[in-house]
Amino acid sequence: MSGSLLRCAKCATQYPELDLRTECTCGGLLEVQHRPPPERGAALRARFALRRGYAGASPADASGVWRYQELVMPSAQQVVSHPEGNTPLLASARLSGWAGVRQLRLKHEGHNPTGSFKDRGMTVAITQAVRVGARAVGCASTGNTSASLAAYAALGGLRAVVLVPEGHIALGKIAQTIAHGARTLAVRGDFDTCLRLVREAQSALGVYLVNSVNPWRIEGQKTIVIELLEQLDWEPPDWIVLPAGNLGNTAAFGKALTELRDVDLIDRLPRLAAVQARGASPFAQSFDSGFEKRMRVDPHTVASAIRIGDPASYDRAVSAIRATNGVVTSVPDEDLLEAKAIVDASGIGCEPASAASVAGLRQLVRQGVIRPEERDVAILTGHLLKDPEAVLAYHQTGGGPPGLANPPLTIEPTLAALETAAFSRA
Ligand code: F0G
Repeated sequence: MSGSLLRCAKCATQYPELDLRTECTCGGLLEVQHRPPPERGAALRARFALRRGYAGASPADASGVWRYQELVMPSAQQVVSHPEGNTPLLASARLSGWAGVRQLRLKHEGHNPTGSFKDRGMTVAITQAVRVGARAVGCASTGNTSASLAAYAALGGLRAVVLVPEGHIALGKIAQTIAHGARTLAVRGDFDTCLRLVREAQSALGVYLVNSVNPWRIEGQKTIVIELLEQLDWEPPDWIVLPAGNLGNTAAFGKALTELRDVDLIDRLPRLAAVQARGASPFAQSFDSGFEKRMRVDPHTVASAIRIGDPASYDRAVSAIRATNGVVTSVPDEDLLEAKAIVDASGIGCEPASAASVAGLRQLVRQGVIRPEERDVAILTGHLLKDPEAVLAYHQTGGGPPGLANPPLTIEPTLAALETAAFSRA
């Protein structure tokens, strides 16, 4: 039974669910369209809740992606799952205070099996790769997609090839990618170059592409929003703030929200705020022109995960921002690193790109776009340990505002030295 089809967002051509392609012959990106689920509203909520209660009984129910299968890939029989999702919704008075809002929650996607939100899309894309009999799977990546692809390809028994920009990938991510057995190619070029090359390899070498241009990745990533709304008892917040790079997640959030409204799971849409690093902010620059002009830039930022100059999901991210009356902004690296230091020091922790959401939230509050009394959820996209070099560089060079740097101290092996070092402020 097939419950879904692929539809070109540009020219509306339709392809069957098990088609291998990830883009239309016209060059447009494909979108998955599902048949309307048999249940909606309260009945669908009850079904999701029941599965949550049974988690552990079946691999699919234990996953915070496959529990929502009707909205993700209704016809999947066997899934390649870790399981993933089930990430916490956290609160921190210190962080709310820093951002200048009364009620901030953090949806921490760093709690996924490979430490980033990518696992939610990857479980679906690799499940699809197995269904269509792909000989190999591939992606271009700034690191998290490659780590996730490597792990899920190994779980699914598929050959994996990843292209990463040489010298611009965080230590934890490259370590994961090679450890899980993906063939890892460091390309002399940036992420955008890697993506162009792997797109060529897709047709020329028969590699099934699992970047977020793959429509099934988007289906999986929708569950960040679905799970977060379920955690809020289906009461939407006023704002969802997220970091933005290649714009797959922004696109997925917009698709999730409109579909949830269509099946009566929510009755109004939260506004999306997408946040880029200032030196890699083509989407924010386009937003400033009312999306009149698509911008491309030569990207520079310490947040290597979002060091992207020509985001692939641009068109569908524009639709997401428009559909949710959303905004797009950018933050300088200093703000992003300060936000990360506060997230880390509050005991939560995240990688640099993730902190763009918190830094962006504070900026939007200061600009009066977000009001302090509004209810906000910021997405933390990756785990602190993804980029240990960024942590050491920040704390050992004493960067940022006074009081935040916390370098390790070397001492003589005496109680006096220990007391001085531990209890006096440097
Ligand atoms: N945060 C982290 C930690 C990421 O790794 C990424 C993207 C983003 C945010 C931005 O999400 O691309 O959907 O707008 N990382 C990709 C990768 C590009 O290859 O791992 P986006």
